[in-house]
Amino acid sequence: MTTRVVLAYSGGLDTSAAVHWLGAERGYEVIAVAVDVGQGGDFEAIRQRALAAGAVEAVVIDARADFAADYAVPALQANALYEGRYPLVSALSRPVIVWHLVDQARRHGATVVAHGCTGKGNDQVRFEVGTRALAPELEIVAPAREWQWTREQTIEYTEAHDIPVEVTREKIYSIDENLWGRAIECGAIEDPWVAPVEDMYSLTHETATEPVEVTVGFEAGVPVSLDGEPLGLVELIDRIGRIAGSAGFGRIDMVENRRVGIKSREVYECPASLALVFAHADLEGLTLERDLAHEKARLEPRFAELVYDGMWFSPLREALSAFVASSQRHVTGEVRLRFTLGGHVAVTGRRSPVGLYDYGLATYDAADAFRHEDAEGYIRIYGLGIKTWACRQKAAHAGKD
Ligand code: ARG
Repeated sequence: MTTRVVLAYSGGLDTSAAVHWLGAERGYEVIAVAVDVGQGGDFEAIRQRALAAGAVEAVVIDARADFAADYAVPALQANALYEGRYPLVSALSRPVIVWHLVDQARRHGATVVAHGCTGKGNDQVRFEVGTRALAPELEIVAPAREWQWTREQTIEYTEAHDIPVEVTREKIYSIDENLWGRAIECGAIEDPWVAPVEDMYSLTHETATEPVEVTVGFEAGVPVSLDGEPLGLVELIDRIGRIAGSAGFGRIDMVENRRVGIKSREVYECPASLALVFAHADLEGLTLERDLAHEKARLEPRFAELVYDGMWFSPLREALSAFVASSQRHVTGEVRLRFTLGGHVAVTGRRSPVGLYDYGLATYDAADAFRHEDAEGYIRIYGLGIKTWACRQKAAHAGKD
């Protein structure tokens, strides 16, 4: 029986060439799997392109709802920002794609999994570590890492073999997009000193003419409404992205540390994910008990690093998510965000039926319910060690003078 391979198919240049290459060079039957994680595009056209390139089957999977609920939400609840800034757009989509690849491999009797990544990025790590975690018996092939062609050479290969592709010779950026945002690499921005230009962006053009406000409702750490209107996750993420993006909010320009040891200049547009993390973290300020909040804050960067590093399906990531999930029970309430022109955001209010803010304790006016007289003794004992230490220091110095 001919060996079957499931290929993570995007419809782009590299994966279209890979469909043909896997058949011609390896003798495999290719099952192309295109996973919709909110990147947009005509998926029927993508499916047809895979078949035209020589795939024996081409499958399109709408994974937007799974991606939002099972990957984006756990990341949101962990306020996950890699190196403090990047909301893990690509890093979060790879595990859901891997999950479906493995599922399709089993359904189609495939023993090999393939992806279109080169040898320099993080995505190859995420595909391969993820696949090994879910299905250690599957073999992995990375055609683009083997052939090491330039873009020009890849185009020549597709022309030589009549593989239909939609490319122009001067495509300059490498784009990866999903519900959580858009990542832009390559081209002129490979020089970290070169300023991004407006036409690189698609989600964050400032079209609003005055500040925009939106109230995000959360239930147990899950965003559930905008301005009081209950919305499903996919719709909510899309809508808040449009609102925030219309004020030009959500751009990131950074040099980041890849898993594979390379520093990389990255430009991102993440209006929805950054707005939601901002609102969610603020609501936690109101609803999380202090020790829990502080411990959680210590774990969040580790969570982000694990996800970035392709360790979504690892026991540590799962254990951290269990901790985070437990912390979210009372993260319920509303946060009002105000986006001002030029891409700024501020929280202008938050409220929760289970908030820990107690007006009677906080106020300085007549409603004050705090027992002031308790403070004196509390502080005396709290500072007792320091006082003892200070007295001894004095005594020791006095002896020397
Ligand atoms: N640097 C980001 C990451 O590693 C974005 C990667 C974008 N991927 C791509 N194939 N263009 O998560």
